[in-house]
Amino acid sequence: MNYKQLGDTKVKIAEIGQGTWQYRGGVGPLKVGISLGATHIDTAEMYGTEETVGEAIADERDKVFLSTKVSPSHIHHDDLIKAAEASLRRLGIKTIDLYMIHWPNPSIPIKESMSAMEELLRQGKIKHIGVSNFSVEELKAAQKALSFSSNKIVSNQVEYNLNNREIEEDLVPYCKKEKITIIAYSPLARGQISTNSKKNDELLEGIAKKNNKTKAQVILNFVTREENVIAIPKANNEDHVRENCAASGWRLSEEDIRKIDEAF
Ligand SMILES: NC(=O)c1ccc[n+]([C@@H]2O[C@H](COP(=O)([O-])OP(=O)(O)OC[C@H]3O[C@@H](n4cnc5c(N)ncnc54)[C@H](OP(=O)(O)O)[C@@H]3O)[C@@H](O)[C@H]2O)c1
Repeated sequence: MNYKQLGDTKVKIAEIGQGTWQYRGGVGPLKVGISLGATHIDTAEMYGTEETVGEAIADERDKVFLSTKVSPSHIHHDDLIKAAEASLRRLGIKTIDLYMIHWPNPSIPIKESMSAMEELLRQGKIKHIGVSNFSVEELKAAQKALSFSSNKIVSNQVEYNLNNREIEEDLVPYCKKEKITIIAYSPLARGQISTNSKKNDELLEGIAKKNNKTKAQVILNFVTREENVIAIPKANNEDHVRENCAASGWRLSEEDIRKIDEAF
């Protein structure tokens, strides 16, 4: 497993982590993932999976980088503090490694939400502040809303896969410049490993065969080709977990990347 720098911090985070939206695998697959280096586990108060994640990491908390999210309806100051405390209880941990605003909420001033985030940092209840589904403009506003220059937005979790490469236009370059990690969600397009195009499927199969990898591994490797991008595929199935972990630790050639880039 390859590890990448988280934002502008000294923390290293797994290139392939484990998502838990609609996760129903119990503790097994998550533990297999941790043993293979997929130590970044992503959840959210909205997913209803925090208890399971807590159970899976209980005896190996130190190995895991745990991220969770506050729902957009809970980002008034006091609500956000309460939401974080409830997540900590459900997860059975003392500190959340990365706490994110799940979606922007234009009806609540971002300054108010960020002041609560900074309070949680001061109290040691969270280690890092992140956002999710924020555009470049929303991200800039969130960065500006922080009161202390030492406090930073370290990551933005957004959809990124072969069917949706929108973020390459503005978000990826902006985040690179600002040293913000992009956490790619739905990196396997929610399990659509096969595309609508026979030609594109054959291309991916050819590249997979040549590299002695699978299509899913080629896709995940492509998604994480930039230094500031990591991914969080979700897998109920232990074999999928093993396959996804082995999508890291090697790199597609420039030529293979160019071919995929042109095809999708
Ligand atoms: N911030 C947000 O708003 C947001 C939104 C969506 C998702 N997320 C996060 O991102 C995570 C991942 O996204 P996602 O769950 O939407 O989609 P995904 O990871 O792209 O796809 C999950 C689907 O792919 C299948 N799969 C996994 N590995 C596979 C493999 N190697 N080969 C074939 N199929 C494979 C899974 O099957 P099995 O389960 O049967 O193994 C599941 O059906 C979520 O769990 C969540 O943590 C965040």
